[in-house]
Amino acid sequence: MRRISLSALILTAIIVVLAGALVAILLFVASQPPPRRGIQPLVEIAPYEPDSAKWGLNFPNQYSTFLLTEQNAISTTYGGSALISKLERDPRLVTLFAGMAFGVDYNEERGHRLSLKDVRETRRLNEKTPATCYSCKSANPPALWAEMGMREFGKVKFSDMSARITEPVGCANCHEANTMRLIVTNPALEEALAAQGKDWRNFTRQEMRTVVCANCHVEYYFQGDDKYLVFPWSRGTHIEGIAQYYADTGFEDWKYPEAGTSMVKIQHPEYELYTADSTHYRAGVSCADCHMPYARDGAAKFSSHNIKSPLLMAEVACGACHTDVAYVVERTKRIQDQVHETMSAAEDALIAAIESLKAAATDESADQVQLNEARRLHREAQLRWDFVLSENSMGFHNPEEALRILAVAIDMARQAQLKAIAASDAALLAKALQQ
Ligand code: HEC
Ligand code: HEC
Ligand code: HEC
Ligand code: HEC
Repeated sequence: MRRISLSALILTAIIVVLAGALVAILLFVASQPPPRRGIQPLVEIAPYEPDSAKWGLNFPNQYSTFLLTEQNAISTTYGGSALISKLERDPRLVTLFAGMAFGVDYNEERGHRLSLKDVRETRRLNEKTPATCYSCKSANPPALWAEMGMREFGKVKFSDMSARITEPVGCANCHEANTMRLIVTNPALEEALAAQGKDWRNFTRQEMRTVVCANCHVEYYFQGDDKYLVFPWSRGTHIEGIAQYYADTGFEDWKYPEAGTSMVKIQHPEYELYTADSTHYRAGVSCADCHMPYARDGAAKFSSHNIKSPLLMAEVACGACHTDVAYVVERTKRIQDQVHETMSAAEDALIAAIESLKAAATDESADQVQLNEARRLHREAQLRWDFVLSENSMGFHNPEEALRILAVAIDMARQAQLKAIAASDAALLAKALQQ
């Protein structure tokens, strides 16, 4: 009896202690602040702050991965980040861009942190280059556009603007300070979307994960004496719409030497090619899905800002959706090889057209109507081939569309060649008939 009551006493004591501990734990948990998701800024960021290091104080994971874009220097078969001359890799480009700056200096593109260094070192610059060229190379322009407006910005010479441009591409090109929302920072993109009746403020988050790249990875040109930055999208973002826009406005980047063709140089239309109904785009995949895969820092998940060729990180870049990564990487190689081979055929056709055009252009008696038609076809063929060439994925972003465009380019180039030959033949025939 006494033994039982002693055990009961000990048991009761244990229960009381445990209950007390439980109450203490519950009180402790209840007194903790609620868990906060999302962004808790440590330091306030000024609107359009160009210095990414300041933003980096709040977001060390995004900042440290972003810094890695300065170190990347590995090549893939058709891309990567090594400093390679496209002209040395394919000397036909020297002929195809004869008479203009890209025929002199044209390198493989590299990481975002190198953007300012690379634009300053290119031999494509001259004393007439406008400040507009800094638009996509630096985190300073958004603040300058807010201060002086895009039109005034374009009127300044590149060299005169240089003192105010201190940062490569950075956080301010893609994010709104403090809210960290993805935003359109380039007025040219805002206007090009508006011209199609679109307002990015109504876009979904997934759409913005693609549209934010269109601040820079697009075809553009400098309009008029003000060198105003314009995306030629008012007739659509497909190659046909862009070609029509340039035909209607009669825009000319340079005159092809000896052939006399009025030419257009295409820039880097990743956004246009990708969104032209590609398989991935239709499936709702964004640029960031492949180029900014999620990474982990302990329990925290964040978007890697080390943007580079996804083939250098296929496990994470493709593996998020594809179970058989080796298979899709192999498919990618096949796609790129095919596009490369077709692109090569287009180059041969273009060079043949150029040779015939040069011969016809020096023939004083050549039929001018046919000669001009040959020039028009040369211009149209080359800008189509150039669209696929200067899009940096060797067709991967949209294989069907890339191959379709190249097929049209080859056909037009051969037509240009035939018309140029016919222009001289017509003159010979007329001469023969006179005699
Ligand atoms: C489905 C995945 C995927 C999507 C979506 C995607 N890309 Fe790519 N991107 C690739 C692959 C693969 C390559 C080829 C890389 C190579 O050849 O090394 C590439 C190449 C590039 C390159 C050249 C990289 C280099 O190393 O030379 C750029 C620039 C680029 N993409 C930008 C974009 C932009 C901008 C978007 C959205 C409009 C986009 N990508 C959407 C997978 C993707
Ligand atoms: C403010 C302009 C700007 C924005 C916005 C931008 N880029 Fe770029 N990007 C560039 C420039 C300029 C380069 C080439 C830099 C160089 O060659 O020095 C580049 C290079 C790249 C490369 C090649 C990197 C390498 O190492 O080969 C990829 C891939 C790329 N960008 C993808 C993207 C994606 C995806 C987005 C959207 C999430 C994006 N970029 C947004 C300007 C921009
Ligand atoms: C080329 C465009 C681009 C640049 C430059 C850029 N970001 Fe981002 N950032 C993105 C995209 C795209 C996302 C994904 C957003 C989403 O999923 O809603 C993102 C996401 C984020 C997020 C949300 C959390 C996450 O990781 O998904 C933070 C925070 C962030 N970035 C910080 C930064 C900082 C700091 C810098 C400068 C060091 C920076 N970003 C530069 C495009 C960019
Ligand atoms: C966010 C998801 C997502 C990511 C990331 C992704 N893919 Fe895909 N991919 C898809 C979807 C969805 C399809 C269409 C599948 C289908 O219809 O069967 C697809 C289809 C493909 C196809 C077949 C295309 C065709 O036209 O037949 C290839 C090749 C491919 N992906 C390669 C890649 C590579 C390489 C990467 C990484 C660089 C990648 N994908 C990243 C979702 C993704």
